[in-house]
Amino acid sequence: MDIIRNIPDLRIYRKKINPNFRIGLVPTMGALHEGHATLAQASVKENDLTIVSIFVNPTQFGPNEDFERYPRDLEKDARMLAGLGVDAIFAPSTQEVYPAKAQFYFDIKDLDQKLCGASRPGHMNGVVQVVSILFHLVQPTHAYFGLKDYQQCRIIQTLVEELHFPLEVVPCPIIREEDGLAMSSRNVYLNREEREQALFLSQTLNAIQARRSEFSSINEIQNFALKELDKFPLVKLDYFEVLNGKTLEDLSSLDPSFQPHLFIAAYLGKTRLIDNMAFGD
Ligand code: PAF
Repeated sequence: MDIIRNIPDLRIYRKKINPNFRIGLVPTMGALHEGHATLAQASVKENDLTIVSIFVNPTQFGPNEDFERYPRDLEKDARMLAGLGVDAIFAPSTQEVYPAKAQFYFDIKDLDQKLCGASRPGHMNGVVQVVSILFHLVQPTHAYFGLKDYQQCRIIQTLVEELHFPLEVVPCPIIREEDGLAMSSRNVYLNREEREQALFLSQTLNAIQARRSEFSSINEIQNFALKELDKFPLVKLDYFEVLNGKTLEDLSSLDPSFQPHLFIAAYLGKTRLIDNMAFGD
Protein backbone atom coordinates (compact mmCIF):
# COMPACT_ATOMS: atom_id res chain seq x y z
CA MET A 1 0.00 0.00 0.00
CA ASP A 2 1.34 3.41 -0.99
CA ILE A 3 1.18 6.40 1.35
CA ILE A 4 1.07 9.59 -0.70
CA ARG A 5 1.78 12.80 1.21
CA ASN A 6 1.61 15.50 -1.47
CA ILE A 7 -0.23 16.55 -4.62
CA PRO A 8 2.62 16.13 -7.17
CA ASP A 9 3.11 12.52 -6.02
CA LEU A 10 -0.64 11.91 -6.19
CA ARG A 11 -0.74 13.22 -9.75
CA ILE A 12 2.13 10.89 -10.77
CA TYR A 13 0.35 7.94 -9.06
CA ARG A 14 -2.96 8.83 -10.70
CA LYS A 15 -1.45 9.09 -14.20
CA LYS A 16 -0.10 5.54 -13.98
CA ILE A 17 -3.56 4.05 -13.29
CA ASN A 18 -5.17 2.18 -16.19
CA PRO A 19 -7.80 4.58 -17.64
CA ASN A 20 -10.36 1.76 -17.78
CA PHE A 21 -10.12 1.06 -14.05
CA ARG A 22 -12.95 1.67 -11.63
CA ILE A 23 -11.37 3.82 -8.92
CA GLY A 24 -12.92 4.01 -5.46
CA LEU A 25 -12.24 6.96 -3.16
CA VAL A 26 -13.07 6.81 0.54
CA PRO A 27 -12.68 10.32 1.99
CA THR A 28 -12.01 10.25 5.75
CA MET A 29 -10.53 12.35 8.51
CA GLY A 30 -8.69 9.33 9.94
CA ALA A 31 -9.10 7.87 13.46
CA LEU A 32 -10.62 5.00 11.55
CA HIS A 33 -13.18 2.60 13.05
CA GLU A 34 -15.32 -0.29 11.82
CA GLY A 35 -17.61 2.14 9.98
CA HIS A 36 -14.70 3.38 7.86
CA ALA A 37 -13.52 -0.22 7.41
CA THR A 38 -16.90 -1.08 5.89
CA LEU A 39 -16.59 1.79 3.41
CA ALA A 40 -13.07 0.71 2.45
CA GLN A 41 -14.17 -2.94 2.12
CA ALA A 42 -17.07 -1.98 -0.13
CA SER A 43 -14.73 0.07 -2.30
CA VAL A 44 -12.09 -2.68 -2.50
CA LYS A 45 -14.79 -5.18 -3.52
CA GLU A 46 -16.44 -2.97 -6.13
CA ASN A 47 -13.42 -1.26 -7.73
CA ASP A 48 -10.11 -2.12 -9.40
CA LEU A 49 -8.26 0.29 -7.12
CA THR A 50 -9.09 2.02 -3.84
CA ILE A 51 -7.62 5.24 -2.45
CA VAL A 52 -8.50 6.33 1.09
CA SER A 53 -7.88 9.98 1.89
CA ILE A 54 -6.99 10.92 5.46
CA PHE A 55 -7.16 14.63 6.11
CA VAL A 56 -8.54 16.46 9.12
CA ASN A 57 -10.07 19.32 7.20
CA PRO A 58 -9.78 22.60 9.14
CA THR A 59 -12.38 24.44 7.07
CA GLN A 60 -15.26 22.25 8.26
CA PHE A 61 -14.63 22.97 11.96
CA GLY A 62 -16.08 26.02 13.70
CA PRO A 63 -13.80 28.23 15.87
CA ASN A 64 -14.92 26.53 19.10
CA GLU A 65 -15.02 22.99 17.77
CA ASP A 66 -12.63 20.07 18.19
CA PHE A 67 -10.19 20.55 15.27
CA GLU A 68 -7.14 20.65 17.56
CA ARG A 69 -8.06 17.64 19.65
CA TYR A 70 -9.55 15.55 16.81
CA PRO A 71 -7.86 12.11 17.14
CA ARG A 72 -4.98 11.50 14.69
CA ASP A 73 -3.04 8.23 14.29
CA LEU A 74 -1.84 7.70 10.72
CA GLU A 75 0.25 4.63 11.55
CA LYS A 76 -2.68 2.80 13.14
CA ASP A 77 -5.00 3.83 10.30
CA ALA A 78 -2.46 2.64 7.71
CA ARG A 79 -2.18 -0.77 9.40
CA MET A 80 -5.94 -1.18 9.27
CA LEU A 81 -6.23 -0.11 5.62
CA ALA A 82 -3.33 -2.30 4.47
CA GLY A 83 -5.14 -5.27 6.00
CA LEU A 84 -8.26 -4.45 4.01
CA GLY A 85 -6.52 -4.43 0.63
CA VAL A 86 -6.59 -0.66 0.10
CA ASP A 87 -4.12 0.37 -2.63
CA ALA A 88 -3.13 3.85 -1.45
CA ILE A 89 -3.63 6.43 1.28
CA PHE A 90 -3.60 10.10 0.36
CA ALA A 91 -2.66 11.97 3.53
CA PRO A 92 -1.71 15.54 2.62
CA SER A 93 -0.80 18.37 5.02
CA THR A 94 -3.07 21.40 5.50
CA GLN A 95 -0.52 23.54 3.65
CA GLU A 96 -0.68 21.13 0.71
CA VAL A 97 -4.47 21.29 0.41
CA TYR A 98 -4.86 24.99 1.27
CA PRO A 99 -1.67 26.79 0.21
CA ALA A 100 -3.55 30.12 0.36
CA LYS A 101 -6.63 31.49 2.08
CA ALA A 102 -9.64 30.20 0.12
CA GLN A 103 -11.42 32.78 -2.04
CA PHE A 104 -14.48 30.66 -2.83
CA TYR A 105 -17.33 29.88 -0.45
CA PHE A 106 -20.07 27.37 -1.20
CA ASP A 107 -23.41 28.91 -0.36
CA ILE A 108 -25.56 25.78 -0.16
CA LYS A 109 -29.26 26.56 -0.35
CA ASP A 110 -32.13 24.38 0.91
CA LEU A 111 -30.16 21.27 1.90
CA ASP A 112 -28.07 23.29 4.37
CA GLN A 113 -30.87 25.09 6.18
CA LYS A 114 -31.57 22.44 8.84
CA LEU A 115 -29.78 19.92 11.05
CA CYS A 116 -25.97 20.18 11.17
CA GLY A 117 -26.00 22.86 8.47
CA ALA A 118 -28.00 25.11 10.80
CA SER A 119 -26.18 24.10 14.01
CA ARG A 120 -22.69 24.39 12.54
CA PRO A 121 -22.60 27.46 10.27
CA GLY A 122 -19.97 27.06 7.54
CA HIS A 123 -19.48 23.36 8.25
CA MET A 124 -21.02 22.10 5.00
CA ASN A 125 -19.11 24.73 3.02
CA GLY A 126 -15.90 23.20 4.38
CA VAL A 127 -17.05 19.67 3.56
CA VAL A 128 -18.02 20.58 -0.01
CA GLN A 129 -14.77 22.50 -0.45
CA VAL A 130 -12.51 19.62 0.59
CA VAL A 131 -14.58 16.95 -1.13
CA SER A 132 -14.45 18.94 -4.39
CA ILE A 133 -10.67 19.26 -4.04
CA LEU A 134 -10.36 15.50 -3.41
CA PHE A 135 -12.61 14.67 -6.37
CA HIS A 136 -10.49 16.88 -8.65
CA LEU A 137 -7.19 15.45 -7.44
CA VAL A 138 -8.06 11.76 -7.17
CA GLN A 139 -10.60 11.62 -10.03
CA PRO A 140 -12.42 8.58 -8.67
CA THR A 141 -15.20 6.81 -10.54
CA HIS A 142 -16.92 5.97 -7.23
CA ALA A 143 -16.85 7.78 -3.86
CA TYR A 144 -17.98 6.17 -0.61
CA PHE A 145 -19.69 8.03 2.25
CA GLY A 146 -21.34 6.77 5.45
CA LEU A 147 -25.00 7.54 6.01
CA LYS A 148 -24.43 8.55 9.63
CA ASP A 149 -23.66 11.94 8.06
CA TYR A 150 -26.93 11.81 6.16
CA GLN A 151 -27.13 15.52 5.36
CA GLN A 152 -23.50 15.51 4.22
CA CYS A 153 -24.32 12.60 1.89
CA ARG A 154 -27.35 14.37 0.40
CA ILE A 155 -25.32 17.56 -0.13
CA ILE A 156 -22.45 15.67 -1.80
CA GLN A 157 -24.88 13.74 -4.03
CA THR A 158 -26.37 17.07 -5.12
CA LEU A 159 -22.91 18.61 -5.61
CA VAL A 160 -21.96 15.73 -7.92
CA GLU A 161 -25.21 16.05 -9.87
CA GLU A 162 -25.16 19.84 -10.21
CA LEU A 163 -21.47 20.24 -11.01
CA HIS A 164 -21.43 17.12 -13.22
CA PHE A 165 -18.56 15.41 -11.44
CA PRO A 166 -18.00 12.23 -13.50
CA LEU A 167 -18.41 9.85 -10.58
CA GLU A 168 -21.00 7.96 -8.58
CA VAL A 169 -21.61 8.62 -4.89
CA VAL A 170 -22.08 5.36 -2.99
CA PRO A 171 -23.89 5.91 0.33
CA CYS A 172 -23.17 3.15 2.86
CA PRO A 173 -25.25 2.07 5.89
CA ILE A 174 -24.53 3.26 9.44
CA ILE A 175 -22.36 0.80 11.39
CA ARG A 176 -23.25 0.47 15.07
CA GLU A 177 -21.62 -0.80 18.24
CA GLU A 178 -23.30 -3.91 19.73
CA ASP A 179 -25.50 -1.77 21.95
CA GLY A 180 -26.65 0.41 19.04
CA LEU A 181 -24.43 3.50 19.33
CA ALA A 182 -23.50 4.70 15.83
CA MET A 183 -19.75 4.36 15.29
CA SER A 184 -17.93 7.69 15.22
CA SER A 185 -14.33 8.82 15.62
CA ARG A 186 -15.65 11.15 18.34
CA ASN A 187 -16.87 8.26 20.53
CA VAL A 188 -13.33 8.05 21.98
CA TYR A 189 -13.94 11.39 23.74
CA LEU A 190 -16.72 9.91 25.91
CA ASN A 191 -16.12 8.97 29.53
CA ARG A 192 -17.97 5.98 31.02
CA GLU A 193 -21.11 7.88 32.07
CA GLU A 194 -21.27 9.80 28.80
CA ARG A 195 -20.83 6.58 26.81
CA GLU A 196 -23.78 5.02 28.67
CA GLN A 197 -25.98 8.05 28.15
CA ALA A 198 -25.00 8.38 24.48
CA LEU A 199 -27.42 5.52 23.92
CA PHE A 200 -30.14 8.18 24.11
CA LEU A 201 -29.62 8.77 20.38
CA SER A 202 -29.97 5.25 18.98
CA GLN A 203 -32.48 4.10 21.62
CA THR A 204 -34.80 7.01 20.90
CA LEU A 205 -34.66 6.41 17.15
CA ASN A 206 -35.24 2.67 17.61
CA ALA A 207 -38.11 3.22 20.06
CA ILE A 208 -39.88 5.58 17.65
CA GLN A 209 -39.37 3.24 14.74
CA ALA A 210 -40.66 0.27 16.79
CA ARG A 211 -43.81 2.23 17.77
CA ARG A 212 -44.26 3.80 14.34
CA SER A 213 -47.89 2.67 13.97
CA GLU A 214 -48.81 4.59 17.17
CA PHE A 215 -47.79 8.02 15.84
CA SER A 216 -50.16 10.06 13.73
CA SER A 217 -48.26 13.37 13.69
CA ILE A 218 -44.74 14.78 13.79
CA ASN A 219 -45.62 16.58 17.01
CA GLU A 220 -46.37 13.28 18.73
CA ILE A 221 -42.99 11.92 17.66
CA GLN A 222 -41.23 15.04 18.88
CA ASN A 223 -42.98 14.88 22.26
CA PHE A 224 -42.01 11.23 22.60
CA ALA A 225 -38.34 12.06 21.93
CA LEU A 226 -38.39 14.88 24.50
CA LYS A 227 -39.87 12.55 27.11
CA GLU A 228 -37.11 10.01 26.44
CA LEU A 229 -34.60 12.81 27.02
CA ASP A 230 -35.75 13.05 30.68
CA LYS A 231 -34.20 9.61 31.28
CA PHE A 232 -30.75 10.87 30.16
CA PRO A 233 -29.73 13.80 32.39
CA LEU A 234 -26.22 14.13 30.88
CA VAL A 235 -27.58 14.65 27.37
CA LYS A 236 -27.98 18.14 25.95
CA LEU A 237 -30.18 17.94 22.88
CA ASP A 238 -29.00 19.90 19.84
CA TYR A 239 -31.86 18.92 17.53
CA PHE A 240 -34.45 16.25 16.97
CA GLU A 241 -36.23 16.56 13.62
CA VAL A 242 -38.51 14.57 11.38
CA LEU A 243 -37.89 15.74 7.81
CA ASN A 244 -38.36 14.74 4.21
CA GLY A 245 -35.54 12.22 3.69
CA LYS A 246 -34.81 13.48 0.18
CA THR A 247 -35.15 17.26 0.38
CA LEU A 248 -34.51 17.64 4.15
CA GLU A 249 -37.48 19.99 4.27
CA ASP A 250 -40.21 20.15 6.89
CA LEU A 251 -43.03 17.66 6.47
CA SER A 252 -46.73 18.45 6.49
CA SER A 253 -47.58 14.84 7.41
CA LEU A 254 -46.05 11.41 7.94
CA ASP A 255 -47.20 10.23 4.51
CA PRO A 256 -44.65 7.59 3.38
CA SER A 257 -44.36 9.29 -0.03
CA PHE A 258 -42.40 12.06 1.79
CA GLN A 259 -39.87 9.44 2.97
CA PRO A 260 -40.01 10.70 6.59
CA HIS A 261 -36.62 10.48 8.24
CA LEU A 262 -35.63 10.95 11.91
CA PHE A 263 -32.56 13.06 12.73
CA ILE A 264 -30.96 13.58 16.11
CA ALA A 265 -27.90 15.43 17.44
CA ALA A 266 -26.87 15.80 21.07
CA TYR A 267 -23.98 16.83 23.29
CA LEU A 268 -22.47 14.58 25.93
CA GLY A 269 -20.21 17.03 27.71
CA LYS A 270 -18.28 18.71 24.89
CA THR A 271 -18.80 15.81 22.48
CA ARG A 272 -21.41 16.27 19.78
CA LEU A 273 -22.91 13.06 18.36
CA ILE A 274 -25.39 12.56 15.53
CA ASP A 275 -27.61 9.73 14.33
CA ASN A 276 -30.54 9.18 11.98
CA MET A 277 -33.00 6.54 10.83
CA ALA A 278 -35.72 6.17 8.21
CA PHE A 279 -39.21 6.30 9.71
CA GLY A 280 -41.72 3.79 8.46
CA ASP A 281 -41.75 0.41 6.82
O1 PAF B 1 -17.28 12.56 6.92
C1 PAF B 1 -16.10 12.94 7.05
O2 PAF B 1 -15.26 12.26 7.66
C2 PAF B 1 -15.68 14.28 6.48
O3 PAF B 1 -16.70 15.22 6.56
C3 PAF B 1 -15.16 14.16 5.02
C4 PAF B 1 -16.24 13.70 4.07
C5 PAF B 1 -13.99 13.21 4.98
C6 PAF B 1 -14.68 15.54 4.53
O4 PAF B 1 -13.65 16.02 5.32
